[in-house]
Amino acid sequence: MDISNTDDAVTRRISFFTDRVRNLKAHDLYFYNMPVEEIKGGSRVIVNGREMGMYASYSYLGLIGHPRINAAAKAAIDKYGTGTNGVRLLAGSLTIHTELEETIAAFKHAEAAVTYSSGYSTNLTVISTLMGRGDYVISDKLNHASIVDGCLMSGAEFRRFKHNDMEELERRLQQIPSDAAKLVVADAVFSMDGDVLDLPRTVQLCRKYHAWLMIDEAHSIGVLGKTGRGIEEHFGLDDVIDIKMGTLSKTIPSVGGYAAGKKDLINYLRHASRAYIFSAALPPAQTAAANEAFKIILEEPWRIEAVCANGQQFIDGLKSAGFDTMLTTTAIVPVLCGSDERAFALTQACQHKDLFVLPVVSPAVPEGQSRLRATVTATHEPKEIDYAVGVIAKAGREIGIIQ
Ligand SMILES: Cc1ncc(COP(=O)(O)O)c(C=O)c1O
Repeated sequence: MDISNTDDAVTRRISFFTDRVRNLKAHDLYFYNMPVEEIKGGSRVIVNGREMGMYASYSYLGLIGHPRINAAAKAAIDKYGTGTNGVRLLAGSLTIHTELEETIAAFKHAEAAVTYSSGYSTNLTVISTLMGRGDYVISDKLNHASIVDGCLMSGAEFRRFKHNDMEELERRLQQIPSDAAKLVVADAVFSMDGDVLDLPRTVQLCRKYHAWLMIDEAHSIGVLGKTGRGIEEHFGLDDVIDIKMGTLSKTIPSVGGYAAGKKDLINYLRHASRAYIFSAALPPAQTAAANEAFKIILEEPWRIEAVCANGQQFIDGLKSAGFDTMLTTTAIVPVLCGSDERAFALTQACQHKDLFVLPVVSPAVPEGQSRLRATVTATHEPKEIDYAVGVIAKAGREIGIIQ
């Protein structure tokens, strides 16, 4: 069917986007979905035959391509093949699934863990399994889309509090009937701003108002805490989070998501969460890769020190050039530009100087807060970071973002 002549709301919505993308491409401002031909460690990639410094990777510890992880994945294929028999509840769990879940539970100081085929589906399924009509979910305003979607899907009353504002969180909790089921949910490290949740106060409030607490550790595993165990270790707290959620697609160079917590909770999720019951298990190679990666994080602590030092060097360099990097203290570094146009112009200048970095523009962030969203990893060299800061600062001055 030729839809080009139709004039309905859906077609108009698609046309608006098509025009926006076409316009960006026409002005050499479109850098999404880049064709990456090769990943060289955590800090460099080959794009269209050109080597670039990578500042948009979630591989915070530079573990993609680690020989032990690759070997574990290959051995798993030799042993189990490439697929599973389907849904674990009925077709059975592979030994490697159980091993990975035990590894995660031990790493997160939890009694048990369950895995799903993506971080996105983990948030959807865990929140919507535990919460339903008549219940309350209370979510930080900057939480990841998968958390928001999970809250909406649950059918529970959806309340949001101002980003990391503990007074407003307390007010929200006070407004909810004391006997209602409540879940407070937040990112540990916020994915667009790079700042860290005030976990100690969040825990106190959850205890005071008898709310469950779920934390998404997508950007904190391997980054926060002396041994990379995440936000609890960062604040010197042990096992204070009811539902410890994380992904296997960022620091852990695989794919998938997990929830860790008390045995009964995890057992309940294994029998009640739809993404476990109605969707196939993680493939063996990815499961084995994830399992090996958790071990390497503990055995190669230099990587955690390096990602923290690199993050600090990058933030300090950008700040002293005059940029606003918001409240980040982690490996996610927003470089505030203001308008979408400025963010696109800064991206273009960086890309032309071989920096692979992407903009985040409205509506993904509030209007006027468009930015480069840069990340650093453990495998960037200090001189590479100096180069990146130099390129961003020169372009920032030319565009008028900094003086
Ligand atoms: C905070 C957060 N949670 C969940 C996800 C989803 O994880 P995945 O990409 O493994 O589906 C992401 C992905 O970017 C994320 O940033």
